[in-house]
Amino acid sequence: MKGIKILGIGAFAPSNVVSNDDFSKIVDTSDEWIYSRTGMKKRHLSKGEPTWFLAKSACEDALKKSGLKAEDIDLIIVATITPDYFTPSMACIIQRELGIEKCIAVDVNAACSGFIYGIDMASKYIACGDARNAIVVGAENLSKITDYTDRASCVLFGDGAGACVLTAGEGTFATYLGADGSGAKFMVARQIPPRNMIINGDEPEFDDGIPKSKEHYLFMDGKEVYKFAIKALPHAVEMACKKAGISVEDIALIIPHQANIRIIETAAQRLGVPMDKMQVNIEEYGNTSSASIPLALNEAYEKGKVKKGDKVCLVGFGAGLTYGAVLYEI
Ligand code: ACO
Repeated sequence: MKGIKILGIGAFAPSNVVSNDDFSKIVDTSDEWIYSRTGMKKRHLSKGEPTWFLAKSACEDALKKSGLKAEDIDLIIVATITPDYFTPSMACIIQRELGIEKCIAVDVNAACSGFIYGIDMASKYIACGDARNAIVVGAENLSKITDYTDRASCVLFGDGAGACVLTAGEGTFATYLGADGSGAKFMVARQIPPRNMIINGDEPEFDDGIPKSKEHYLFMDGKEVYKFAIKALPHAVEMACKKAGISVEDIALIIPHQANIRIIETAAQRLGVPMDKMQVNIEEYGNTSSASIPLALNEAYEKGKVKKGDKVCLVGFGAGLTYGAVLYEI
């Protein structure tokens, strides 16, 4: 499989910052509890900026840094679980906003693994020649679906977007993806049910095996997701290494999904990797689902934590349940 090269990374987060203390004004919680259980201090929450706006801002940043022009992009993939519309896709809106006349544009929903799934798809389009350059962006307004009366989940989530411009590259490259739908019930935000004016009153009930959550708000069984995450993260890294024919020690930096510092620490321990090889920015952003990995990736590049020839592993897990890793060489 041909490799990828990241030409530019961009990020955007709403300017509105909410602290742990802000949450203690609306639910029974404290800075001490949130920080010690999750590693989070702040998160950026949209004051009305729509998801497409977050995505577009991150894409513009990535495009500018890549040195490419909008017309060089043949493929846009937006990873999100909080799009603004059933239709059109966020990707078509981004295409319009970037002024790209013709390209392939599609959204993917793989929750917090969405950016990983997006990179995997883009790499395959690039390898087969259907795209020269692609933009993959993870963008979320999790505040749309967060239940701000549920202290166990509302403190965890933030809004933001991260994007990267990709092209074909050389060197180590492997992706490893998976899903386990038996865990679909552990993290749920329900859509509106089918209802219409023609058939009314005698609709059959369908049991989808998912507990009835409150309206469209996110329900999460934190303990089950936690148990899954501490297995899925090391597994995905190890499998990507195996596919690439390298060992975990060869990785210069791991960029994990930022869901909980304890999950990241446990994954590092299981992989036998020191914490300074794990990129962490959870204090600043909380969990931004599909935006979390590219936001952390952007920070790693901006802080000069990686250099040419380094092997980097992006790894995520999320609702679905989904998981996956992308291993590439800079
Ligand atoms: N403030 C104060 N107390 C709280 C809070 C809070 N915000 N939330 C829960 N508690 C209480 C609980 O009620 C419980 O009280 P009790 O002992 O009296 O019953 C106590 O704290 C302990 O609760 P636990 O659920 O056992 O806390 P835990 O240490 O497991 O941490 C957490 C909970 C942070 C949710 C953890 O389970 C976790 O991180 N799970 C993974 C979540 C995750 O990764 N989600 C993202 C998936 S990715 C995606 O797709 C978006």
